[in-house]
Amino acid sequence: MSINLVRLDAVGNDHEALVNFMTRNEFRFHGTPRITRQAIEASIAKGAYRNEDNDSFWIDHAEHGRIGIARVQDLRDPTAMFDLRLDEEFRGRGLGLDSLRALTQHVFSTLPDTHRFEGQTREDNIAMRKTFLRCGWAKEAHYREGWPVQGGTPVASVAYSILRRDWETGQTTTFVWEDLTL
Ligand SMILES: CC(C)(COP(=O)(O)OP(=O)(O)OC[C@H]1O[C@@H](n2cnc3c(N)ncnc32)[C@H](O)[C@@H]1OP(=O)(O)O)[C@@H](O)C(=O)NCCC(=O)NCCS
Repeated sequence: MSINLVRLDAVGNDHEALVNFMTRNEFRFHGTPRITRQAIEASIAKGAYRNEDNDSFWIDHAEHGRIGIARVQDLRDPTAMFDLRLDEEFRGRGLGLDSLRALTQHVFSTLPDTHRFEGQTREDNIAMRKTFLRCGWAKEAHYREGWPVQGGTPVASVAYSILRRDWETGQTTTFVWEDLTL
């Protein structure tokens, strides 16, 4: 794979580079599209990038170098969650695909008790939704008006996941999406 995940030291050597990455990029599909230095520093201080429940990584690409960051959450739960953010310069080139593959591999190969890896995104984040599907993740929920939008109308939140056994076999486990008939 062209991607290498490099553990990020948010309170030490990587602090300034992380703050720079988070404040110079816009994340229009996140709750806060423009993050301030104070907000990111508070979040680092709370352990959001590394503590017993969280870990974070630079996404290093063999050809392009450092293309973004990934944060894995809920490390002690049977289901881990994540946040994936590519640098604006490297979006729109399909690089999210190998980034999510590398992150999935990392989770299932380093967290033996994790059997499910989940992610949620806004319904209008088509790039992320296609990335999920292309990586073999299954859509499991569509929370109508579940994603608040600052100063706007809420949009749906869409949830996808991959099971450990699906990652091992390459076969996405399906289920009956339609509800009971009454
Ligand atoms: C979301 C993200 C990881 C996706 O990775 P990416 O490599 O940039 O994805 P791409 O933009 O190449 O899009 C993937 C596919 O969706 C398609 N797509 C993207 N936006 C689209 C739109 N509005 N309508 C239709 N198709 C769209 C692309 O054309 C591409 O398909 P293709 O390969 O057939 O051309 C990356 O853009 C990113 O980090 N964004 C900012 C942070 C973020 O939103 N993270 C998600 C939080 S979970």
